[in-house]
Amino acid sequence: MIGVFDSGHGGLTVLRALQDAMPTHDFLYLGDHHFAPYGDRTPEEIYQLTLDSVSRLFDQGARLVVLACNTASAVALRRLQQTWLDGAYPGRRVLGVLVPMVEAITGVPWMADLAADRPAGPPRTIGIFATSRTVDSGAYPREISHRAPEVRVVQQACPELVRLIEGDAPPAQVRDAIHRYTDGLLGQLGGGAPQAVMLGCTHYPLVADAFIEALPQGVEVLSQPDLTARSLAAYLQRHPEFDRPGSGQVQFLTTGEAARITPLATRFFGKPARFERV
Ligand code: DGL
Repeated sequence: MIGVFDSGHGGLTVLRALQDAMPTHDFLYLGDHHFAPYGDRTPEEIYQLTLDSVSRLFDQGARLVVLACNTASAVALRRLQQTWLDGAYPGRRVLGVLVPMVEAITGVPWMADLAADRPAGPPRTIGIFATSRTVDSGAYPREISHRAPEVRVVQQACPELVRLIEGDAPPAQVRDAIHRYTDGLLGQLGGGAPQAVMLGCTHYPLVADAFIEALPQGVEVLSQPDLTARSLAAYLQRHPEFDRPGSGQVQFLTTGEAARITPLATRFFGKPARFERV
């Protein structure tokens, strides 16, 4: 069984892609609704909360946990892997949505020797839309520039967007906010356009069309759920010991109020997602 963690139900956009790509695997999803949203929390809070939820998923039997939350991946992933995992849960793995995105943008595998001779690609500009905390962490620009210094990364925080999407705000209001954010990003480029943008938050795939409409024609919008699913499927082919196909079951757990979350979650998952409180 594969553990999937998110601050709330946004990670269901990722789980949906994982399930489509690996329909015979079993998944255990945990949303930390009691403490969501993470986007404005301090890095230390995000680290501790992520650690607690990952431990819970391991204790329930997962050998591999995917952090579907960008904020948790950007703030906590490296620290968990480097300072906690081997001591607390030897032989288990924590992966995050940050990694497949950085690999897709740079073309460099995560574990590659960063100092290895690599012919620089053509200069490119990539835009990143994310929560304030993901932007402040600097994780995406840092990891991308280590691997592909020729890639210029421009970030734009979208502080209102999670709340608008969660609240099912009128489409015109969502579009206005997205226009402000895309204008902000394009303004940083002095009127130029990036080659591609990444929607670096679990919620943004639900409004991807509004981003596409607001950006200049020809700007590629990278799909994080699809890239994560492809990357995880490839990882499990190389490391089948972390999860073998099962019967395609999915269980949804929350630290919040299950009855309130279940209807909201269905919008993110695209089909019924019945939550139980842990
Ligand atoms: N899951 C978060 C992310 O992908 C968005 C919601 C939150 O702020 O908790 O960054």
